[in-house]
Parts: sequence; C-alpha cells; structure tokens
Amino acid sequence: MTKNIIAPSILSADFGNLKRDIEMLNESQCGWLHLDVMDGVFVPNISFGFPVIKEIARYSKKPLDAHLMIVNPDAYIERFAELGVQYLSVHLEACTHLHRTVQKIKSCGVKAGVAINPHTSVSLLEDILPDLDFVLIMSVNPGFGGQSFIPQAEEKVKKLKQMIQRANADCLIEIDGGVGLDNAARLADAGVDVFVAGSSVFGAANPSETIARLASL
Ligand code: DX5
Ligand code: ZN
Repeated sequence: MTKNIIAPSILSADFGNLKRDIEMLNESQCGWLHLDVMDGVFVPNISFGFPVIKEIARYSKKPLDAHLMIVNPDAYIERFAELGVQYLSVHLEACTHLHRTVQKIKSCGVKAGVAINPHTSVSLLEDILPDLDFVLIMSVNPGFGGQSFIPQAEEKVKKLKQMIQRANADCLIEIDGGVGLDNAARLADAGVDVFVAGSSVFGAANPSETIARLASL
C-alpha cells in the first residue's frame, strides 16, 4: 500500500555514484525525486545546478521536484521547465511578487509550489492558496540535510490542512527536513501528502526498503 508520496532528497545521495542512486530510486516506491537547489545567498550553502540536474533528468524515471532556495527564482523558471522538472517550489521569503512568480511557473506547464521557512506563518498563504498545486513546509531551517525536525511544523501542517479544506483548494502539503520513520506516521495523520526524506533514506542500511516503509505508514 502506498498512500504517502515519498520524495527522497538527492542532496543526501552519493554524488560519486549518482547514476547508481537514481537507478535505485527508479526501482523503489519513491514518488518524486527532490532536488535542493541552493545559491549561497538565500541559504548559507551551495548545492548543485543545471548540469547536474540535466544528468539526473536523463536517468530518472520519477517526476523531478525542484526546491529553489535561491534569490530571484523568476530568472530561472524556464530553464527548470526545459530540463523537465515537473514540480517547482519557490520560497515565499524570496519572492516580492509571489503571485506573478506562481503564474509564471504554471505558464511553463510546471506544477507550482510555495515553500515557507520555519518562522513563516501558513496564514500568509491564504490569498494565494487557490493558485497553488502544493505548499512545502520547511521543518528545518533550509540549507543543509541531516538536521533535527522542528516540532512546531506539525501544527503548521494541521492549520494548513484546515485552510485547504475551507478553501476547497486542490493543493498538496509537502514537508521537508528531519523526516523519517520516527515521525512520518504522525505527519501523515496531520495531513502531509508528500514527504521529503534525505538522510533517513540515504543513511539507511536499505534505502529502498525505507522508502517502502515510509510510503505505507
Ligand atoms: C534542506 C533541504 C532538505 C534536505 C532534507 O534545506 O531543503 O530537502 O535535503 O534532508 P533531511 O531529510 O536529511 O533533513
Ligand atoms: Zn528541500
């Protein structure tokens, strides 16, 4: 049974064996493949960009979910669309004209998501909710894999779920950071649809089995 969409974060993969790890994910029950793009400005870390994503897209059979932790994401939306990214999230904190950015993502035929940092209230999304395909709630401060889950994120999920139901919006809830077998079931009950999992998947003795377990919780 796979009710949860699991989106393993490539940030925790073995970059020396990226093709091998992607092929493992192709054969697994993973739903989306999560790509953390960091610019060293919006977050204090730099990850990977277009040449690496191009190769990932070449080998992956799973939908690509790019999480842009960058300033001025508008400038790069078409490039991500051209690479075949199917889900694209931008940070509310990085967008002055969020509505325009979301419309631009959708006009490229890509599902549009908005990511919010741990300190940002979900209530700020109320007016844009009907336009969104998904909301990404950060449950760690963005920038690094392997951090501990911030407990307040669970309440934010519940609040957002209520907002989505009230608005009758067609919007998924994605959670990102510190997610694993210890907290995924509770988060599913709270209303999470998509679970980003980096270190809990790639740090496991059997990543593919861990994905299957997370998917069926
Ligand atoms: C953090 C990233 C996350 C990260 C998750 O900025 O957005 O996607 O890779 O890693 P874990 O699951 O290890 O917390
Ligand atoms: Zn992420």
